[in-house]
Amino acid sequence: MSSEKTLSDLFLDTLKDIYFAEKQILKALPKMARAAQSEEGKAGFLQHREETLGQIERLEQVFGLLEKPPRGKTCEAIQGILAEGEEIMEEYKGTSALDAGLIASAQAVEHYEIARYGTLKAWAKQLGLKEAVSLLDANLQEEIATDEKLTALGEATANPKGANKAK
Ligand SMILES: [Fe+2]
Ligand SMILES: [Fe+2]
Repeated sequence: MSSEKTLSDLFLDTLKDIYFAEKQILKALPKMARAAQSEEGKAGFLQHREETLGQIERLEQVFGLLEKPPRGKTCEAIQGILAEGEEIMEEYKGTSALDAGLIASAQAVEHYEIARYGTLKAWAKQLGLKEAVSLLDANLQEEIATDEKLTALGEATANPKGANKAK
């Protein structure tokens, strides 16, 4: 009955994990945009929401290459990261540190995605799934670019306002 699981199974399970995660992120980004105080922050979150739609489509193409229906698998890691973000929104509402907190939460999300896409891309390569490699790489590059924008945004705007300028 129980056959041994392979790297292909792991690839599909992890694909389902990030598919679930992207859909949760898609729902969270407009909330983060509403909460952000800076215009750049709002615009950045909304822009990444648009990118996320494209990423979900690419994931659906990867499912297609595997001839599997696109299906998510509950990812407790992203739920936890997003729950922390909501906590920040509530606890820092109306404070000068809010945007710094939002950017930090968003970066935790990006780092999770970067970890997942890096792994999936490597596995797709090992499994000889050439088209999947480029689709996953496209998502990976967008997450890396978003992470870099968040770093710049944090340094330029949110953090100085939120910091108790020491010195
Ligand atoms: Fe994403
Ligand atoms: Fe992202």
